[in-house]
Amino acid sequence: MIRKNTQIIKIDENNPESGKIKIAADVLKKGGLVAFPTETVYGLGANALDEKAVSNIFMAKGRPDDNPLIVHIADISQIDSLVEDIPEKAFKLMERFWPGPLTIIFNRSKIVPDKITGGLSTVAIRMPNHKISLKLIREANLPIAAPSANTSGRPSPTDSLHVIEDLNGKIDVIIEGGPTGIGVESTVLDISGDVPLILRPGGVTQEDLEEVFPKVEYDPALSIGEANLVPKSPGQKYRHYSPKADMIVVEGEVKSIAQSIIELSNTYHNEGKKVGIMATSQNHNKYSSGTVITVGDRNKPETIAASLFKVLRKFDEIGVDIIIAEGINEIGIGKAIMNRMRKAAGKRR
Ligand code: TXA
Ligand code: MG
Repeated sequence: MIRKNTQIIKIDENNPESGKIKIAADVLKKGGLVAFPTETVYGLGANALDEKAVSNIFMAKGRPDDNPLIVHIADISQIDSLVEDIPEKAFKLMERFWPGPLTIIFNRSKIVPDKITGGLSTVAIRMPNHKISLKLIREANLPIAAPSANTSGRPSPTDSLHVIEDLNGKIDVIIEGGPTGIGVESTVLDISGDVPLILRPGGVTQEDLEEVFPKVEYDPALSIGEANLVPKSPGQKYRHYSPKADMIVVEGEVKSIAQSIIELSNTYHNEGKKVGIMATSQNHNKYSSGTVITVGDRNKPETIAASLFKVLRKFDEIGVDIIIAEGINEIGIGKAIMNRMRKAAGKRR
C-alpha cells in the first residue's frame, strides 16, 4: 500500500471553523478519505457515491468486503436519492432519534454502489449528532460512507489519537475534534418486519425505541449459544474490538464477580502471565494483583461506554497477556457494552 502524507487538522467541536471544514470537505469531494469525530466513535469517511473512494476505505482499514458501510447524512432530504421507499416506521424514528446514534436499514436505490452494501439489497443510513460531522457533510454536499476509523478488528476509536495510531499514513485527513461522547457505535435497526429488530445494540437503547414502538426485539443471532444463526448485520459475525491480549469477561452477581476475578487473576499470575483487570469503580479496590484500570461506574453504564474502547487500547499499550473484565447488567446501554465486551473476548466468559 502506498504511504500517504496524512494531514492532521484540529477543529473546535463546539464551533467548527469553516475554513478548516472546507479543506476536509474538498478532500472528500475529490475522492479522498477523511477521519472525523461523531457522537459515537470516529468515522472514516468517503464520498458514498464514488465507488473508488469507497473501495479505498476497505483497503485502509483492511476490512472484509462483505461487511457493508453506513451512509451518513446531514439533512433528511439527502435520503431520497439513496433509498427506494421510506416506510412509515422510519419517519417516526427519524423524527425522534435523528440526529443521533441510530442507523436505519432501508431498501437501497440504484445509485448506491455495491461496494457499500456488500451486495445486499439494503443500505444503512444515519445522521450523526456532532457539529463537526454535520458541518463536514453539509459542506461536502454529499452522502458520506463511514465505518469506524480503526484498523479492522481493533477497538473502535473514541479519540483522534486512536485514529492516528491505526490510520496515519494510510488516509488523507484526520480531524482532531476531541474525545467522542457516547463511546460505543450506533444502534443498527431493521424495520422491514412488523416488529423492529436490533441488529447491533448501540447508543439508542431498546428501552428508547420502545417509547416509539410497542415492541422491539434483538436479532436472535446476537445471543450467545446461537452460533448456528447468521446475524443479519454482517459485521456481527466477526470477532471485533479485539485487544491484542486474550480477554475473559466474568459475568454474574457483583460480589461473586470480584471473587472469581481475584482467583483467576492469581492463577494467571502464578503461570507467569501479565494480567490486566478491567474493573468498575464499585470493585476496583478489591484487586491486589495485576494492572487494574477502572472503566467506569456500574450504576452509570454510560461512563463505561465512554471509556471501554480506550481502556482496551490502554491494556494493549501496557502489553498485558490477559485482560479479565467485569461484566455488567444488560440494561439500557449495558446491552451494547456487553455485546462489545463479549466480542472483544471472542465470547470467553
Ligand atoms: O456509530 C457508528 O455507527 C459508527 C460511526 C462512525 O457512525 N460507524 C460504525 O460503522 O460503527 P461500522 O462500519 O464500524 O459498522 C457498521 C455496522 C456493521 O456491523 C455492518 O455490518 C452494519 O452496520 N451494516 C451496514 N449496512 C448494513 C445493512 N445494509 N444491513 C445490515 N447491517 C448493515
Ligand atoms: Mg467498526
